[in-house]
Amino acid sequence: MKTKIINTPDLLKAASRKKEVTNFCVANSKHIEDLRKISGGKNYYIRTYGCQANVRDEETMRAMLEDAGYKLAEDVEKADVIIINTCAVRENAEDKVYGEIGNLKRLRRANKDLVLAICGCMVEQPEILGRLMKTFPEVNLFFGTHEIAQLLDLIYEVITTKERIVSIESKQGEVVEFVPDCRNNHYKAYVNIIYGCNKFCTYCIVPYTRGKERSRHFQDILNECQRLIDSGYQEITLLGQNVNAYGKDLDEGKDFADLMEAVAKLGIPRLRFTTSHPWDFSSKMIDVIAKYPNIMKFIHLPVQSGNDEILRRMGRRYTREQYLNLVKEMREKIPGLSLSTDIIVGFPNETEEQFQDTCSLVDIVQYEAAFTFIYSPRRGTPAAKMEDNVSKETKVRRFQELVKHLEKHIEEYSESMVGKTFPVLVDGVSKTDENMLSGYTEENKLVHFKGDISLVGTIVSVKINESHTYSLIGEIVNG
Ligand code: 5AD
Ligand code: SF4
Repeated sequence: MKTKIINTPDLLKAASRKKEVTNFCVANSKHIEDLRKISGGKNYYIRTYGCQANVRDEETMRAMLEDAGYKLAEDVEKADVIIINTCAVRENAEDKVYGEIGNLKRLRRANKDLVLAICGCMVEQPEILGRLMKTFPEVNLFFGTHEIAQLLDLIYEVITTKERIVSIESKQGEVVEFVPDCRNNHYKAYVNIIYGCNKFCTYCIVPYTRGKERSRHFQDILNECQRLIDSGYQEITLLGQNVNAYGKDLDEGKDFADLMEAVAKLGIPRLRFTTSHPWDFSSKMIDVIAKYPNIMKFIHLPVQSGNDEILRRMGRRYTREQYLNLVKEMREKIPGLSLSTDIIVGFPNETEEQFQDTCSLVDIVQYEAAFTFIYSPRRGTPAAKMEDNVSKETKVRRFQELVKHLEKHIEEYSESMVGKTFPVLVDGVSKTDENMLSGYTEENKLVHFKGDISLVGTIVSVKINESHTYSLIGEIVNG
């Protein structure tokens, strides 16, 4: 099989943040009509790893494929187009992808016409792309996060030329509006408001894989939210690597607080947002969250470390004191606030004392939820070049110790909910017990309860009877 290389990634180019005007465009496939002629009876399958940005990318790709006549495959064995949408944020996310493709390559061997594609953050890294191309000759399409709009044309090219295509351009990125739209869920929706990241935290690969911060037009976002409300959606989550940066790259005179307020006023029952960087979380944003009852009192505010020296070496742009002051202002102004965070343990050369600063910060903030990670070096990032004298065993021990600190308060918080009644947006059959339904409270707490499947997508009142660390058990009250 011949390989046609259209573009390959380049980390230096990916890191460039030259002042250039963002290109706004609407996705437009040259070969959609050609594909419609040959897609009859054909199916696609997409497997997504990683963050909500990837989940939203999957929805975009689904919309394009369905517009071209492909149907969702019942299972991967029956698919004519398979797309593995990858994540590169930590090594274990990558390992899963190697395992999955290892399982799928037999399908391509059995069916020469199968399009087997890998996209997403992993292929944006030159060395990983090289390794994937070498290890998996069965994969006949590689495309990056900036090429999603070209998906149909790339598939058409693979089918008609029978070549292996590689199209991954490292660039700052554009803002593409995708019409039509497709959603995995009919009552909860993600809405992208800003793409990319300019923060360049020293451990993180995302600014290299997803390009510069670029906001969508204010009115395009409002129009999308209004369409969702008109079709009965109950919850919208505004999405970005750092939503707080919204609007800074536009000259529309609007910031994230303005956007949140405008979406809240449209009347969606539940409005959420993620992720927020503590550095540019403004008082104006806190005031807007406090003011509107339909903005959920839940903030994901990654701290990463509780030690100033580690925060400085991580390039986080805030001190422990500044973070704690921000939390204080949030807790004072937003009664009933639920705070969640991300923490990395075992950053290069982290001392025991520095780690204990993280534990003490956790004890002060008393997070209601948290995600904890052991530091994973990402090639090409500044932290990957730092000396690291912390052993694997120490990192694992610190990780476990940190989880204990976090769980203490999370458990107390869960217990404090027992006996009270909360509105819960019903998600579906519980993953742990098929006789139960599950859903989330406004504070983003998972609740299991008995109820009829017809309640999925509605908001019901649930009285909490029992608490576990990460979930609650309750019963529906008032019907
Ligand atoms: N190692 C471990 N965790 C990481 N994260 C990002 N990069 C790394 C890395 N190299 C974590 C951060 C971030 C979350 C999405 O993933 O905590 O907030
Ligand atoms: Fe990564 Fe930092 Fe950007 Fe978050 S803010 S995506 S951790 S570089």
